[in-house]
Amino acid sequence: TGGAAAPEKPREEWTGQVGFIIAAIGSAVGLGNIWRFPGVAYENGGGAFLIPYLVALLTAGIPILFLDYAIGHRFRGSAPTAFRRLRTWLETLGWFQVMICFVIAVYYAAVIAWSLSFFVFSFDLGWGDDPAAFFTGDYLQVSEPGISLDFVPGVLIPLAIVWVLTIVVLAGGVAKGVQRANMVFLPLLVIAFLVLVVRSLFLQGATDGLNALFTPNWEALGDANVWIAAYSQIFFSLSIAFGIMITYASYRKRRANLTSPGLVVAFANSSFEILAGIGVFSTLGFLAHQEGVQIGELENISGPTLTFITFPAIISEMPGGVFFGALFFGSLAMAGFTSLLSITQVISAGFQEKFGWSPRQAALRVGLVTAIVSVLLFSTADGLNALDTADQWVNNIGVVASAVLTCVLVLWVLRRGRELQYHLNAVSTFRVGAWWQVFLAVLAPIVLGYMLISRIVTLIT
Ligand code: PHE
Repeated sequence: TGGAAAPEKPREEWTGQVGFIIAAIGSAVGLGNIWRFPGVAYENGGGAFLIPYLVALLTAGIPILFLDYAIGHRFRGSAPTAFRRLRTWLETLGWFQVMICFVIAVYYAAVIAWSLSFFVFSFDLGWGDDPAAFFTGDYLQVSEPGISLDFVPGVLIPLAIVWVLTIVVLAGGVAKGVQRANMVFLPLLVIAFLVLVVRSLFLQGATDGLNALFTPNWEALGDANVWIAAYSQIFFSLSIAFGIMITYASYRKRRANLTSPGLVVAFANSSFEILAGIGVFSTLGFLAHQEGVQIGELENISGPTLTFITFPAIISEMPGGVFFGALFFGSLAMAGFTSLLSITQVISAGFQEKFGWSPRQAALRVGLVTAIVSVLLFSTADGLNALDTADQWVNNIGVVASAVLTCVLVLWVLRRGRELQYHLNAVSTFRVGAWWQVFLAVLAPIVLGYMLISRIVTLIT
């Protein structure tokens, strides 16, 4: 393995298959499941959206997830190392993924910090009568565009907490840090979220919300944008092509079943997503009922504005809102934190392997640098805009580019598809057939290439 700067140490490992699966689910289930999926599904055909969504999951999501696993496990390294062992010049692609993770970590941490603040606010409905003015005005203090250095104390403290926790967990290493944290937070998240969703079903107007979400609009299936939305949702949601699943799979022991855990992760992630759709739309149904309007007339039904403006308003009107608010924002914070651990682990592992740093050194150095950027951007007045821009470039273009490149380079240029297929099938109980390579080599590049070009065109024009 030419070019390794550091002497080989025995690789860190998950304690077993369950640890790996829990951590991978922790990464996949994140903010995207809660605030992104429901709105995307609603706007792209409602119940009919489940068809492109499933097609995207089966033809690109799961195949690329397996590809990530195969690369990480076969070459036993985080993204830069694994790609370098595949072919020296591919290391660059690994660092590109590390960079994507860095950008995401910076803003993802901020959203977790906001959730922590709102968790605290929910105990006395601290957002008052006008949550919109509260969020952007009192809390974020968004005034004029441009980055200013007036630190917003309300954001600074929770953000510092998020980063200290992240550094502490990563410093503990894979088994004693990342796995352990996931073992605590993922079960808590599932319980809290289930309680929340069941509660939301009993709100007045819940059925209207569910009808709005699930009533199929079949015409949507003829719209290319709906299909693109489905593929994007799957990508972001499964955390594929970010280097995350490569890194996580590299900590499986040498002979390990990879495909079956992959199916478990994909299935769990989608289930959580649909559960979130049910919870969010039951709650929106309640809002529509309160205001005497149709669901279609509601604004701010996804992303940060859903979370930090619409939900607070609903929570204030709801019987038992304090409890609901605490569960909701607590769930967001936990879902986000386990994803943040996976993103930052990619960065940390990249540097550990490149420079021979220990997990502790890497956690501290990488954590501090990312934290400082994150604090500078997000505890100052222009966080919201920065988030938007970063999100556009990274999610819409960076990740898709990274996925196309991986498929085309590994399958076509280097022709390593068969080798990786054998590797996956060596121990796995669910065996992949030639279909796997066809999806990766033909279908994925066409669909993703189209997505990439249409997005670049929209962003430039
Ligand atoms: N999959 C996570 C979600 O759905 C988001 C995520 C994306 C996490 C990329 C890590 C990396 O929110």
